[in-house]
Amino acid sequence: MTLRKIVQPLPAARILGIESSCDETAASVIENGRSMLSSVIATQIEIHKKYGGVFPEVASRQHIRTIYAVIEQALQQAHLGLSDIDAIAVTRGPGLAGSLVVGMNAAKGLALGHNIPLIGINHLEGHIYSSWVYSADTIQPPEPPEFPLLALLVSGGHTELNLMEDHLRYKRLGATLDDAAGEAFDKVARMLNLSYPGGPSIQAAAEDGDPTAFNFPRSRMSGTWDFSFSGLKTAVLRVVRKLEAEHRPIPVANLAASFQAAVVEVLYSKTMKAAEEFGVKDIVVAGGVSANRSLRETFLQKSDIPVHIPSLSLCTDNGAMIGSAGYYHYALGHRDPLNLDVLPTWPLS
Ligand code: KG4
Ligand code: ZN
Repeated sequence: MTLRKIVQPLPAARILGIESSCDETAASVIENGRSMLSSVIATQIEIHKKYGGVFPEVASRQHIRTIYAVIEQALQQAHLGLSDIDAIAVTRGPGLAGSLVVGMNAAKGLALGHNIPLIGINHLEGHIYSSWVYSADTIQPPEPPEFPLLALLVSGGHTELNLMEDHLRYKRLGATLDDAAGEAFDKVARMLNLSYPGGPSIQAAAEDGDPTAFNFPRSRMSGTWDFSFSGLKTAVLRVVRKLEAEHRPIPVANLAASFQAAVVEVLYSKTMKAAEEFGVKDIVVAGGVSANRSLRETFLQKSDIPVHIPSLSLCTDNGAMIGSAGYYHYALGHRDPLNLDVLPTWPLS
């Protein structure tokens, strides 16, 4: 796509956003890029809990069962029909192929049947755009993030820092070289026998713990904007194994709190350093891990640069973020053909 400034004034449009890249089936109607008229999320967490993680085939089949009901409910909540929708934005990738295909085909069926334009959206871009979204009943809509901005994306599959000079323009400064932050939360939770998904479990366990109990390594990756969490994960594992070998109790709360503190410190310090170096006006923190209370508090309380973090329900996967990103693509004139394929691996920049 040629990068151009978004046309001004922005067009009035309602976008139906559909998301099915992993284990949430979600749909939402977004008006003019930011106002969320509805958002419906059918989570599969309870189904996957017994496997300790997402079981891909089970996930795609569950999406099949719920997707049309979720879309119908999103339209009903918005008091709209498909004839009121200007475009359908759907997650094209990255994600689980079998899960992506379900959302993509549902979107195509509606696009074809109702003659509505189709737009494929990058899931990571969606996460970043969740910071533009506010609930339609908000009396005083918040100001949107201002460019140039720095976006820290921290999810289950990705951890990266992107510089954005304008809408839909991403320059990746750095990314994790091994585990994503959310993946590290999930793996450490498993080591501590905490339930899936690991992020919320670690956060809950950490509430009763001392974050200074263990001095876990903070991988600085000096001279780069990259991250690494595998050393930290291994450090936790080493402590757990040693205690188990000595038949001593595992101090789950202290381990969870110390691990969480290390992750938060690395994410915060690296992001702030980049924000200062690139002279950004705003910082956006997005993706599932941005739901973490300690991470949110650290950014919101310590940063001198304004920080935008989505409301809790928009941190993890949802349709509103896809609808919002879809709107800005729509404004640029982006339309996709009905033979659009999914992209299970699809870098943002
Ligand atoms: O963005 P997301 O819903 O899905 C992906 O695109 O990957 O992120 C899911 C990830 C999981 O690894 C989960 O453990 C993590 O976000 N997560 C959290 C919290 N809530 C979800 N991590 C830390 N603290 C949380 N409160
Ligand atoms: Zn996600």
